[in-house]
Amino acid sequence: MKIAVLPGDGIGPEITEQAMRVLTALAGDGLSVEMETAPVGGAGYDSAGDPLPEATLRLCEQADGILFGAVGGPKYDTLPRAKRPEQGLLRLRKHFDLFANLRPAIVYPELAHASTLKDEVVAGLDLLILRELTGDIYFGQPRGVRTNENGEREGFDTMRYTEGEIRRIARLAFETARKRQRRVCSVDKANVLETTQFWRDVVTDAHQEFRDVELTHMYVDNAAMQLVRNPKQFDVIVTGNMFGDILSDEASMLTGSIGMLPSASLNARNFGMYEPIHGSAPDIAGKDVANPLATILSAAMLLRHSLGQEAAAQRVEGAVRKVLAQGFRTADIAEPGKRTVGTREMGDAVLAAL
Ligand code: NAD
Ligand code: IPM
Ligand code: MN
Repeated sequence: MKIAVLPGDGIGPEITEQAMRVLTALAGDGLSVEMETAPVGGAGYDSAGDPLPEATLRLCEQADGILFGAVGGPKYDTLPRAKRPEQGLLRLRKHFDLFANLRPAIVYPELAHASTLKDEVVAGLDLLILRELTGDIYFGQPRGVRTNENGEREGFDTMRYTEGEIRRIARLAFETARKRQRRVCSVDKANVLETTQFWRDVVTDAHQEFRDVELTHMYVDNAAMQLVRNPKQFDVIVTGNMFGDILSDEASMLTGSIGMLPSASLNARNFGMYEPIHGSAPDIAGKDVANPLATILSAAMLLRHSLGQEAAAQRVEGAVRKVLAQGFRTADIAEPGKRTVGTREMGDAVLAAL
């Protein structure tokens, strides 16, 4: 099996290296994975003048799955939009039609104290945010900056969803909930936005085929509040691209750190790109302090969803649980004053646990 590894920028290369070591270790155990790396994001721009170089896209097309680090950085923030690192990521999502973004927020018992919320609020949390990833205001046209009829400049983006786009993510939410606690909360802003009233109507209609699953609706502002008030009320949250982006960063802090949240971005044939939900963390890049666990857990999701290697996925997740139980902590999940390990040392610990 062939995996395209796109380390990207900032901490991207440091964290993907640890995930590659884990996959290599599994390969030694009879699983045959071949990994090839290619530049993306700022690294793509630097080497080929494009955040998604043609050769990188070809490599991804020939692969069984993509492992993605993170892209972006202050160095690239003034480039024209099409050349910015983030476009590499957005183009990959669109190219492979990766409409379903699974962002599981699971609180490991050992890390309940690492959350900024009280232990009892987060202990035992197992929440899945299902974020629609190829529509919404992220991709809607028209967009831009223009001079309006009053001669004043104005910026505009367009929030848009087709019925088909909403229906396929809603169906997946219900199907996924069937394997969990059978509860779906659809998050929208139907009280204000036409697009999201339409979202609510289509989700409600799609629910007809899934009457065994409970469906509730919540406005996004309330959802943001409920996530910190009582996150365990949720099983599956299904929402659009923009709200899902924001709510998943918020949910990551329930787990202790944004460095703990993996993700899978899948298309209809389960081809996928796997990445931590965090960014390139320019503030800590190159210092060997970033938490690699979100990326290692993303590799586990790759094994599960794209390679059909459930046992190997569970081995990796088990190893992560073990290192946390053993007390290994990167700085982001450490208790004040306690010993911390670096990125590579955390990778060593996971390898040893494997
Ligand atoms: P960020 O997620 O990179 O960082 C936010 C904060 O979380 C920082 O303090 C950072 O140090 C910390 N953090 C993130 N990952 C961590 C880890 N693994 N271990 C420990 N701490 C971690 O978000 P930002 O600062 O808003 O964005 C920085 C750059 O990343 C921007 O260019 C942005 O566009 C890009 N970005 C990329 C992705 C992606 O590639 N998927 C996602 C989000 C942001
Ligand atoms: C994420 C990131 C991306 C997004 C950016 C970098 C385009 O924040 O993966 O959550 O907004 O989807
Ligand atoms: Mn984000």
